[in-house]
Amino acid sequence: MAKDFSTMEDSNRSSNPSIHDISSPTRRTLLQGGLGAAISQLLAPLAGASALAGCASMGGGPLLGFKSVPVSTADTITVPEGYVAQVIAPWGEPIGLAGMSRAFKDDASNSADEQQAQMGMHHDGIHFYPLDGAQRGLLVMNHEYTDDGLLFPDGMQNWSAEKVRKSQAAHGVSVIEVARKGAQWELVRPSSLARRITAATPMAVSGPAAGHAMMRTSADPAGQRVLGTLNNCGSGITPWGTYLTCEENFINYFSGGDKPSPHEARWGLRKGGAGYRWHEHDARFDATREPNEPNRFGWVVEIDPMDPTSTPVKRTALGRSVHEGATVAVTKDGRAVIYMGEDARFEYIYKFVSRDRIQSGGARANATLLDHGTLYVAKFNADGSGQWLPLTHGQGPLTAANGFADPGEVLIKSRQASDLLGATKMDRPEWIDVDKNGWVYCTLTNNSNRGVGKNAGLDAANPRANNSMGNIIRWKEEGDFSALTMKWNHFVLAGDPANERAEARGNVKGDLFACPDGLWTDARGVLWIQTDMSTSAMGKGDLARMGNNMMLAADPATGEIRRFLTGPSGCEITGATATPDGRTMFINIQHPGESPSERSDPANPGKYSTWPDKKPGGRPRSATVVIRKLDGGVIGS
Ligand code: FEO
Ligand code: CA
Ligand code: CA
Ligand code: CA
Repeated sequence: MAKDFSTMEDSNRSSNPSIHDISSPTRRTLLQGGLGAAISQLLAPLAGASALAGCASMGGGPLLGFKSVPVSTADTITVPEGYVAQVIAPWGEPIGLAGMSRAFKDDASNSADEQQAQMGMHHDGIHFYPLDGAQRGLLVMNHEYTDDGLLFPDGMQNWSAEKVRKSQAAHGVSVIEVARKGAQWELVRPSSLARRITAATPMAVSGPAAGHAMMRTSADPAGQRVLGTLNNCGSGITPWGTYLTCEENFINYFSGGDKPSPHEARWGLRKGGAGYRWHEHDARFDATREPNEPNRFGWVVEIDPMDPTSTPVKRTALGRSVHEGATVAVTKDGRAVIYMGEDARFEYIYKFVSRDRIQSGGARANATLLDHGTLYVAKFNADGSGQWLPLTHGQGPLTAANGFADPGEVLIKSRQASDLLGATKMDRPEWIDVDKNGWVYCTLTNNSNRGVGKNAGLDAANPRANNSMGNIIRWKEEGDFSALTMKWNHFVLAGDPANERAEARGNVKGDLFACPDGLWTDARGVLWIQTDMSTSAMGKGDLARMGNNMMLAADPATGEIRRFLTGPSGCEITGATATPDGRTMFINIQHPGESPSERSDPANPGKYSTWPDKKPGGRPRSATVVIRKLDGGVIGS
């Protein structure tokens, strides 16, 4: 069965994390200091940025101090003069579980059990958790999906339960320990903190939808324990030291019946799913047999990376959606606000505001913080104002008469609730991050269906028909991050201002790019933009002028955008994080060698890319890239 490429294009390629680097300094404060000290750190949306901006070592030069790189079609990474890029932790690399160190085999003949102890496929959101300042730490990262043409020596032929197990084991999250050795970074192996979380790892369910009738299955009649997380795309971090991994295109893994219910249809359930074929050997992915299993995915999952024995928790209070990422800001009184984009055409932007304040004491002290609060969906008005509409059961149209029996059902059916509330249907919201002035940025990657046929037409926030280039919208809350109103504008419309097609012309000040996806604000306030240029949405001429996917740096104050890195052929760039001193940056390269129109061919896996191994005929492998400056300076300075 062929993968559904039309779906893969828009729904499985992605990018990642954003979160200002508040984690490290704030986390230390929370662990070591009193609550007063902690809250003073939390008051600033960019506590890490503030702390680091005060360091003389961060320098006082221009925000963007590097010389931009040209577009590239080479099967390699390019970084500016004076920078070096090193590859670590590619798919299949053993992560350092004691006694489980079977090396990656070039023909992909590793077993499911071996894959369970190796890096997963298709790296995405990532975050660095310091263990020893800027010298040693944990990298926690998502593995969004698998290309099963590459995952096995014979691809998807002879499909079997063992192949399903291996595919599931290549999904999820990796926790690896890394350390700097001179000019290089390497994995610390074995590591007592190394961990793989996969599509089969037991997870708890918490919040208003836990135990709900729509969450119960034959294997879990209580509706409180789910096996696994999947399609983990963007990610987030909390000030209390945990990692938020976001379940994106979960519905692709489920096979439905001939006549989906209205609820199933609204979430895109279809016969055969997107061709992962798990349902053929794992009945819970056959929604005709387990119709509630899809309701148990599409959540934000909280993981404590410092405790490898901890149980990941699906936080239903944050709503169910095709989650791209989850970015935490903190209100002046210490409550958590989580911004989330739903990456699908004509879907929504959400924020969750916690009921309670963040407590000192790390993950344990905040174990239920994300279980209580209010979920809102964004409405962008034509006059530049905006509202946050609460998804509160019993308010407005969210009543039993309209199909919402209780608060849990509102969260499980957040799309239907947002439809009724009249929220703004967006052009595929991907990553979100907050700058040091409190502007919240969201990448809207593209929407080739905008204004086409019977689809929704243009609106002020989504102003281009057949939007192949994407844009970055931003808003500022009127008051605190918990505000119910905001003011918004577009930071940039991506695309070449000289494009021959009017709707593809952008207003980029600086280097050309399209289809922004990953977004991350570093400690100095640089807005890093990563692209996932859509081969289906863009014309050949557009793709030729843009080259391979790239990462750019933007100055939020001036709007200048400068190209910093280009990736290998067929990849997207996704996920960004840095050591607390800003001198080592980690990004992910996802799906090098992916073709816009063909499935990967196990007989010729290196047809479009052999990055990073560069072995003739070898398999391309997603991997983490470590970026340093030759003079040891801060990245981007
Ligand atoms: Fe997985 Fe929206 O990218
Ligand atoms: Ca992706
Ligand atoms: Ca993405
Ligand atoms: Ca994407």
